[in-house]
Amino acid sequence: MGDNPGPANARLKYCLDQAQNRGFMSASRLTSAPSHPVQPSSALLHAADSVLMPSLGFIGAGRVARCLAAAWSKAGYRVAGVASRSPASAAQLAALAPHCEVYPDPQQVVDAADLIFITVPDDAIEATAGALRFSAKKAVVHCSGASEVSLLDSARRQGALIGGFHPLFLFSGAAADVERLRGASVTLEAPDTLKQGLSALVHALGCTPLEIPPGARMLYHASANYAASFILCSLRETVDVWAGFGVGEAEVLNAVWPMLEGTLKAARERGLSGALAGPVSRGDAAVVGKQLEQLKQLGGDHATLYALMTRRAVRLARERSNPPPALDAIDALLVPFLPA
Ligand SMILES: NC(=O)c1ccc[n+]([C@@H]2O[C@H](COP(=O)([O-])OP(=O)(O)OC[C@H]3O[C@@H](n4cnc5c(N)ncnc54)[C@H](OP(=O)(O)O)[C@@H]3O)[C@@H](O)[C@H]2O)c1
Repeated sequence: MGDNPGPANARLKYCLDQAQNRGFMSASRLTSAPSHPVQPSSALLHAADSVLMPSLGFIGAGRVARCLAAAWSKAGYRVAGVASRSPASAAQLAALAPHCEVYPDPQQVVDAADLIFITVPDDAIEATAGALRFSAKKAVVHCSGASEVSLLDSARRQGALIGGFHPLFLFSGAAADVERLRGASVTLEAPDTLKQGLSALVHALGCTPLEIPPGARMLYHASANYAASFILCSLRETVDVWAGFGVGEAEVLNAVWPMLEGTLKAARERGLSGALAGPVSRGDAAVVGKQLEQLKQLGGDHATLYALMTRRAVRLARERSNPPPALDAIDALLVPFLPA
């Protein structure tokens, strides 16, 4: 089995760790956690499953909550309850997790579960958590990448463990998210006593835990957009420009998809600068100049966006072992098109 803890091992270690830690779950009879790799006997695992596995609760039943609830339920965790703004959303989540109760009041979720996920929009996290009562045996996390964990401070003041659990993934709301999520990273921020348990939940999703320094969340999240939603904005720019010669969105996406996938694969294989192609990589300054002029004719900020992206491409090209000599000339061409 190697050193990589599988979901069952990770769950068991989580249970044992939690049993040791400040009574987060009621298991004081267990006194030591085994070192990795954990090799549970089926009887021990059964005992751990039935007595020690944390029950999970969700407040907010949107895209993230539905996917996590379905995945953890499949992995053997008990999703004890869900509450959401609309009962219909909560019922949708409950349908994905056997025995999950739909509660009208979020407090009932806190009372029913060991570990509560607050999965409402970021702007509602603090008020949602602030309205709840927690005991010292509870843990509560939010799933926002940008927002500080301190939004849950009211729970911490009542003795609960608090943390951040941010999957670096774009949840579309599709059922397929559960499978697509496998392999993603999940950024954790929590005290050690909670982090071990959260790591086990990450492994149960088939994901990898990631840590960032305290205080880095906002920049970490802002820049992660370039690997998710901003790719969509980039594609939208292609769609908008091609619309000028009568090509629709579906046709554009069909046409560019193999190039997009090929670019991502090349980046994995050769690194970002190694994968760079296009006029900048060849040092074709005249082409860049003509493209900027034509984009300017389109009006709006088409030329500005192109100039900013081209400046990034020049930086990438400079990282190559043999950069084209025309990079300084291209940089100079960009200046009139960049924001003041
Ligand atoms: N989507 C992503 O790709 C993604 C990725 C990583 C992290 N996240 C984070 O995950 C969290 C949830 O995001 P999401 O994309 O799942 O959002 P979402 O799809 O918009 O779902 C939010 C859910 O919370 C419910 N809700 C809203 N206000 C509420 C309140 N005051 N009390 C109780 N329930 C309330 C919503 O209402 P209804 O009950 O009316 O449906 C909805 O079910 C956010 O912190 C977000 O930053 C999102």
